[in-house]
Amino acid sequence: MLVTNKEIMSDALAKGYAVGAFNINNLEILQAVAESVVEERSPAIIAATPSAIRYGGLEYLAAIAKIAAKSVSQPVALHLDHGKNLETISKCIDSGFSSVMIDASHLDFEENISLTRKAVDLAHPRGVSVEAELGRLAGIEDDIRQIDAVLTDPEAAREFVNRTRVDALAVAVGTSHGAYKFKGEPKLDFKRLRAIRRIADTLLVLHGASSVPTWIIEKATRYGANLAGAKGIPEDHIRKAISLGISKINIDTDLRLAFTGGVREILATSPKEFDPRKILGPAKETIKQVVKSKMRLFGSSCKAS
Ligand code: G3H
Ligand code: 13P
Ligand code: ZN
Repeated sequence: MLVTNKEIMSDALAKGYAVGAFNINNLEILQAVAESVVEERSPAIIAATPSAIRYGGLEYLAAIAKIAAKSVSQPVALHLDHGKNLETISKCIDSGFSSVMIDASHLDFEENISLTRKAVDLAHPRGVSVEAELGRLAGIEDDIRQIDAVLTDPEAAREFVNRTRVDALAVAVGTSHGAYKFKGEPKLDFKRLRAIRRIADTLLVLHGASSVPTWIIEKATRYGANLAGAKGIPEDHIRKAISLGISKINIDTDLRLAFTGGVREILATSPKEFDPRKILGPAKETIKQVVKSKMRLFGSSCKAS
């Protein structure tokens, strides 16, 4: 059955690997994650954002995720990603989520602490772990001077964690959401990450961590996509972030790109095809390829029996 993020991430931190949090929006993406869990013998976090929940329906998504967790013997968590208010958090807990994120990073420091504290008070008595965010995700470009103002300050992180008692903290060290993370060279602030790890007593999360693999971009482009300028986090940066104490890594964009590449290929190469299963099935396989490669990169493969 479902376990908490805290449980999965604590094992990861102790053993020096990271667990992937994979965003799901439909059955095929969920199945790709669940099958990868079994084939890689890896723990995983199934993540759903408020907009995924609006699209798929809370009860539908929670039900299929719970079925997936029940059908595998590896540890799996069901996590609300980027929850913005207590109402959504409460509904997700009622539906059986084992972990929630309260993302109040857009508020000022005291307001972020206050809302995060309320989320912790709501979730902890029900055995649900909580992730919060401090700082704003932004790619580090050479011409941005105010970058210190948006990246996570280590001292502030320590105070935030002590006052909120969150289980995990999403940090801003130069990653950003989506497929266009850097205009110039990819750059992460590892010094800052090292300092946060040293002084903030919590588990650490890296959002916006998709690598935007060239092979997927090439495949999607071959079949008509226009993704010019797409750039992600290089894999060696991900390895380094794990070595500095990141134990959860969020992946959405790479799954979306894989889905797009898979669907485009079938539609372009089999114009007579109109069976949804034969269009979405191959896309699911492409997503699986990505999920499995993430599990190997993060070191979570073979960490669950
Ligand atoms: O941060 C998570 C996502 O990549 C954005 O997801 O479009 O489901 O809100 P969303
Ligand atoms: P990417 O857009 O890099 O996949 O990040 C996803 C994420 O952080 C979800 O919370
Ligand atoms: Zn995110």
